[in-house]
Amino acid sequence: MNDGFFDRFEALTFDDVVVVPGWSETLPDAVDTTATFARDIELAVPLVSAAMDKVTEARMAVAMARHGGIGVIHRNMSIADQASEVQKVKRSQSGMITDPVTLPPTALLHDAEALMHKFKFSGVPITDDDGHLLGILTNRDIRFCEGSDFDRPVTDFMTSDGLVTAEVGTSLDEAKAILQEHRIEKLPLVDGVGCLAGLITVKDIQKRLDFPNASRDGRGRLRCAAAVGVGADLEERVAALVEMSIDAVSIDTAHGHSANVIKAIERIKGSWPDLAVTAGNVVTEEGVEALHKAGADAIKVGVGAGSICTTRVVSGAGMPQLSAIWHTSRRAQQLGVPIIGDGGITFSGDIVKAIVAGSQTVMIGSLLAGTEESPGEMELMDGRRYKSYRGMGSMGAMTGDSADRYATSQSTAGGRTDVGAASKKLVPEGIEGRVPYAGPLGDVLYQLVGGLRSGMGYAGAATLDALRTARFMRVTTAGREESHPHDVTVTKEAPNYQRGS
Ligand code: XMP
Repeated sequence: MNDGFFDRFEALTFDDVVVVPGWSETLPDAVDTTATFARDIELAVPLVSAAMDKVTEARMAVAMARHGGIGVIHRNMSIADQASEVQKVKRSQSGMITDPVTLPPTALLHDAEALMHKFKFSGVPITDDDGHLLGILTNRDIRFCEGSDFDRPVTDFMTSDGLVTAEVGTSLDEAKAILQEHRIEKLPLVDGVGCLAGLITVKDIQKRLDFPNASRDGRGRLRCAAAVGVGADLEERVAALVEMSIDAVSIDTAHGHSANVIKAIERIKGSWPDLAVTAGNVVTEEGVEALHKAGADAIKVGVGAGSICTTRVVSGAGMPQLSAIWHTSRRAQQLGVPIIGDGGITFSGDIVKAIVAGSQTVMIGSLLAGTEESPGEMELMDGRRYKSYRGMGSMGAMTGDSADRYATSQSTAGGRTDVGAASKKLVPEGIEGRVPYAGPLGDVLYQLVGGLRSGMGYAGAATLDALRTARFMRVTTAGREESHPHDVTVTKEAPNYQRGS
């Protein structure tokens, strides 16, 4: 539609355009916001939380997936820690848990308590070495335990007599009836010889009802992605993530159109051909072609667009985000590979514009960093609550494991930074700051998706594919000012509009 609209020597971003309203028979409540993230991973909403250490760990990834998006767990931590975050997500909700975490009869009560605390489980089956189900230990069994009780074996407390179980193959509806009838919370499934083969819980059934649009894998577990670098430990990291049933890995670099990234895709695909790999970041057609040729299943677009980024001012390189999405997605569409527009989303309208420009999904940092589920620390200032947020190329973040994202790798060994010796040599491309506390993620996503639905209504687009055929019009500075509230003093904050924060 817009061929020729974008001048190759003048790049535009979200605020430079508006989407022209079109004939509409589409009601915002009736639109379909389904999008492809990578390969066969479909999302009910086209939203991805950024692989940043103040944005996405297990809690955020769980909440994103429950609401129909996906979270990318950052890599600014050890391989074991990142794998453990992924494990928390994959174990948090399922239709039927096919490989329940169990404990042997010799385990002590404090082992059980630690395990239940780590995974937020309310109970754990106890099995012998051959997998026979001996009993189940639930919160109810240990409610009144204290002191030395915790040094006693779990078999002293578990429920074994009259244990209610069901056969392998029991459907969720049948399980629900059994759980209701016996007023229990967990139903172990056993095979013909009494071995534990699965577990169905009231919590999981309830969550299915509460979050019908959740992003789930083929076994009913929440979807989860995780970031990886390009260093020597790549294979070790991917292997640990795959072990935890990761749905996709995201090669997380600031400059994706580079030899190391191409090699990293090939290294992953060489050993795990069926694993979905997203790679980036690029801003050109050539970048898209190179990553696609190497085997990337989705391409992340954006250099210097992020709210905390200083890449463009530090290095002079980058591209305003709307033009970057526009140019890359023309080529990506021909190649049949989805684009993830990464960075620069400040209002829900920017999501609409990113999709009109051609991206399938958008990756968001700052708008999610203030939510309850982000790992950032809460800060209080002048009676208002904030959460910390920082670029992964900021000094603070680069003293962790992410320095190689910004090619400051002359000061890194295999993607790790020697903090003491190297910190003076780092050249940051991001800043450290804070964003206003924004409450639960569900409320923030409700507004973001509500804005997207509204935009689809104005464009007359019932699907995101239809939205991509809408037209842009360029706005002037005066037009932009007119877009925002003007000539009034805002006296009450709207849940979806904060400016200059
Ligand atoms: P928003 O605008 O949503 O952007 O906060 C999040 C995205 O910003 C990128 N990112 C950085 N870019 N220096 C950069 O130039 C940095 O330190 C930095 N940290 C994150 C990243 O693509 C993220 O998803």
